[in-house]
Amino acid sequence: MSDLVLGIETSCDETAAAIVGEGSKLVSSVVSSQVDIHAEFGGVVPELAGRAHVQLIVPVVEKALGDAGLDTTKPSIGSIACTIGPGLVGSLLVGVSAAKAMAYAWGVPFIGVNHLEAHLYASFLADPELEFPMMVLLVSGGHTMLIHAKSHGDYVLVGQTLDDAAGEAFDKVARFIGLGYPGGPAIDKAAQLGDASLVRFPRPMIDSEGFEFSFSGLKTSVVAWARKHPDASAEDISACFQEAVVDVLVTKAIRAAREAGVSNLCIGGGVAANSALRAETERRCAEEGLRAFIPARAFCTDNAAMVAAAGWWRMQNDGPSVLSTGAIPNLRFP
Ligand code: KG4
Ligand code: ZN
Repeated sequence: MSDLVLGIETSCDETAAAIVGEGSKLVSSVVSSQVDIHAEFGGVVPELAGRAHVQLIVPVVEKALGDAGLDTTKPSIGSIACTIGPGLVGSLLVGVSAAKAMAYAWGVPFIGVNHLEAHLYASFLADPELEFPMMVLLVSGGHTMLIHAKSHGDYVLVGQTLDDAAGEAFDKVARFIGLGYPGGPAIDKAAQLGDASLVRFPRPMIDSEGFEFSFSGLKTSVVAWARKHPDASAEDISACFQEAVVDVLVTKAIRAAREAGVSNLCIGGGVAANSALRAETERRCAEEGLRAFIPARAFCTDNAAMVAAAGWWRMQNDGPSVLSTGAIPNLRFP
């Protein structure tokens, strides 16, 4: 049987398909972003996202198969992996329905994948030599978690955010200072021109005993400070805010790795595309004698290659999912 997995991802506002061999060898990856559709509303509009996925899913899958040199009517693939949750129900349903229909028509197994577990597997695309155990800092638009990954499928939640996710804080601060949507990449770009020493924003819970995070207060501090300093530039505010978030994330991730006694630290999720987070993770890991695994930016934000990688390992460990598997918008992880 072919070791190629067709991955499909439609949990939020990216329609994506990819072909990956043996869980880590990237063959093709196509991501169609809906940013233009949602930008005028300042955030993802679920109804519009679902409709756009319906229009995009077939061409995106065809392009991923075509780029991999595979036949688009009956490709020689071994299985189809698709995100089944968490995410927007109307978006998830499009990918899950398409994936199951293709699996049935082509007579290959269907594998339902947890989107958060998929973010973790992006590190295997970065380096197939990556070995368990590892500490994973998972930072996306909806989640901020530290996961102690002991082996395939064996995860312990070490800590998570008590309120806003890191990506959510980026998006909210960006909106407030007029950088628009999506906020994370806009802050990243603006911060490169800013002075991070202008003001020291609080580092919430950086020294607290456990591994919980909280970003809602930081966002409020930034907004309050910006109101008091109307002349401050968006670039400087971005740099100072970003530095505070990155400091908290990296400090706690390194401490978590130390306490768990693991020497591999991976980052994943959309916020892991952030330049400062990437640089600081690299720098502090080198200082501490830890190995940093940082996926290419394109595999930090939502994509289907990570879904194919996670699906491959799920298949090896648990076998395929039944075709009655549906979308699970609030699917938990771990
Ligand atoms: O993983 P992801 O693509 O989707 C979810 O699963 O949520 O993450 C999206 C989040 C958004 O909040 C976005 O603003 C943030 O990741 N993000 C970034 C950057 N690129 C995306 N945040 C900071 N810097 C970036 N370069
Ligand atoms: Zn994601």
